[in-house]
Amino acid sequence: MTPLFDSASLPPSEEPLEEGAVLLRGFAAAEVQTLLEAVSQIAMAAPFRHLVTPGGYTMSVAMTNCGRVGWVSDRGGYRYDPLNPASGTPWPAMPAAFLGLAARAAAQAGFTGYDPDACLINRYVAGAKLSLHQDRDEDDAWAPIVSVSLGLPVVFLWGGKRRADPVRRLRLESGDVVVWGGPARFVYHGVAPLRDGLHPLTGAMRINLTFRKVF
Ligand code: SIN
Ligand code: FE2
Repeated sequence: MTPLFDSASLPPSEEPLEEGAVLLRGFAAAEVQTLLEAVSQIAMAAPFRHLVTPGGYTMSVAMTNCGRVGWVSDRGGYRYDPLNPASGTPWPAMPAAFLGLAARAAAQAGFTGYDPDACLINRYVAGAKLSLHQDRDEDDAWAPIVSVSLGLPVVFLWGGKRRADPVRRLRLESGDVVVWGGPARFVYHGVAPLRDGLHPLTGAMRINLTFRKVF
């Protein structure tokens, strides 16, 4: 079991990762419960699914989306789609609480006027992971990715602009926010396999919100 650690008990702090990238520890700590309730509502309308990669591999992370478009993967490739392929209907709207948090976090990192089109919602259970990758399916190559961690802690992998660059291991707690854009927009990143644990709000899971400016 992963020992529990409550980042809500610590004052928020800023940890620069490199130019254009910052880890805002505890930035969303006061909003975790509200955000999780909104995730439950979204998942009722657009249930989490394990998507298949273009290579035919089923992802260990389960995903859903809210916003004008949602990120999807299938045998045909990766794309942003205005419709949920599972239902043929639009994705749930982005809740005001999501937009507000994303814009405040982006501004804190130096990116003002952030207006994301999409929020990918990832759900991890023990063993689920995300291999090192760049987020490059968005037309906007400057606006930041804003990533919000909820529930169980995890090790976030922070690499460089080339896949072979050294990788830092950053422990992310519930309420931590990572923002990367501008010169750091195409840094390789990923998530190490989630360890067993129990969080008072998410049980055996970690939920991550990643906001993207697609158009
Ligand atoms: C992502 O890279 O899209 C998600 C990262 C995370 O779950 O922390
Ligand atoms: Fe990513």
